[in-house]
Amino acid sequence: MNQSTQANPLSSSSGTGSLFPQPCTLVIFGGAGDLSRRKLLPAIYNLGLDAVLPTNFAVMGFSLEDLSDDSYRDFARSGIEEFSRQTLTEAQWSDYERTIFYQRGTFDDPQSYQALKRRLEEIEPLCGIPGNRVFYLAVPPRFIESCARNLKQAGLISPMESSGPFSRVIVEKPIGQDLHSAREVNATLCSSFDERQIFRIDHYLGKETVQNILVMRFGNSIFEPLWNAKHIDHVQITVAEQEGVGTRAGYYEGAGALRDMVQNHILQLLSLMAMEPPWSMDADVIRDHRLDVLHCLRPLSRRVVEDCVVRAQYSHGYFLGEDVPGFRREAGVAPDSVTETYVALKLFIDNWRWAGVPFYIRTGKRLPKRASEIAVQFKPVPHILFNTDMSRPLEPDVLALSIQPNEGLSLRIATKLPGPRVRIYPVKMDFRYGSTFGGQSPEAYERLLLDVMAGDATLFMRRDAVEASWAWIQTILDEWEDSRARWLPEYSAGTWGPVEADRLIASDRFQWRVI
Ligand code: BG6
Repeated sequence: MNQSTQANPLSSSSGTGSLFPQPCTLVIFGGAGDLSRRKLLPAIYNLGLDAVLPTNFAVMGFSLEDLSDDSYRDFARSGIEEFSRQTLTEAQWSDYERTIFYQRGTFDDPQSYQALKRRLEEIEPLCGIPGNRVFYLAVPPRFIESCARNLKQAGLISPMESSGPFSRVIVEKPIGQDLHSAREVNATLCSSFDERQIFRIDHYLGKETVQNILVMRFGNSIFEPLWNAKHIDHVQITVAEQEGVGTRAGYYEGAGALRDMVQNHILQLLSLMAMEPPWSMDADVIRDHRLDVLHCLRPLSRRVVEDCVVRAQYSHGYFLGEDVPGFRREAGVAPDSVTETYVALKLFIDNWRWAGVPFYIRTGKRLPKRASEIAVQFKPVPHILFNTDMSRPLEPDVLALSIQPNEGLSLRIATKLPGPRVRIYPVKMDFRYGSTFGGQSPEAYERLLLDVMAGDATLFMRRDAVEASWAWIQTILDEWEDSRARWLPEYSAGTWGPVEADRLIASDRFQWRVI
């Protein structure tokens, strides 16, 4: 079966998919780096603990650092102790550590790839692995080209069409800095790998609540009839972060909130929320439908960017009682930086379903709390019966999908206050993952790694989708580039963004939801 069109695990009631992860070696380029320690090595540990890893499996760290297998195992253990969802148990650790190996190497040195190949050929038979390899490129973007080229030249990639072992590559964002560079990265990847071997990570797609968007929409009969311009007034998507730029100033200053969050995570949330009902759960059917939403985004003109896109940067403020510096005072940030740490924008999806429905998006760092949600506000009831007082209209119904934290879903509806008079009061019907299912949901990386081992690309970004979202964003980037010297609005750290963002939504008679 063609890998990119296999059935999707979402359709399975087992929760771990109808496809099985295959025996393989996960080769982590940048294996001694931060992503590996915080996310990847703990994710594999948790998959082992949940007994969903293939029986024959190994991890090979590949990085610049001079480490032995043993010292890499210590590195992995410390990452698990600090970041794992489930605590480390000695029994599980001793199983896991036996599967961890390390090979020192330089990403642009062909000799390193030959050494890696020899090492893999030595380890695979010992671990009963038939030569299947997943290469995880957890490397700075400038190395992607040499990693892809050297992997191919070293003969480490099996052709897609061969009946032998498989090779797959996982690529972390950012895929490019703009449309032009994204196309270059994609061209580079595709010159070494078949598109069906490439798994571009957008970790938001691996979140339980994000996967639940499709189940909620198409696993219930009550939402779909209302899911259109006739019944929906507007939609708000918020991805708010409490953290500042932290230790990532080097990357973030060249990116900013639009590239870092909107181009990928938020446009993917939007696609899932707005896509047409797919006719099957095949990976490419789902991805085609997500892509259609991106194609229907109303193109932005320079003037629209000025009116409908707000960017801002956090300034000094107070956060949980603490004094926190403004972005320009953060370590590694230029004192005159014009990088935005906040974006709010209004967009339209020009198709029959969404004609005329505004979508408001906002995201930022150093906001009062970490909270991500998609809120669907329904049209008000007519001004008859219970809604006759135009000066005090009834609160509209709102369906809010809480992506994180406190994952769940709530529906605000009008109800009668008990008593002799008819008085209307808005109440919330609430479902929370924590109280309903207990325990902690798996981390996004757990699900995504498992899907790659199973060859299921549903939750990954296809080349055309990456380029379509950059194409839409590009007008904003161009407009901002031309107005670089212009004044950048500020918001105090610990507040909900600049007053310009409030004006953006208020000009349409709405306001941002209080989350
Ligand atoms: C990353 C961004 O992709 O997503 C970060 O680069 C951001 O800047 C992070 O903090 C948010 O992810 P999450 O899962 O914590 O919401």
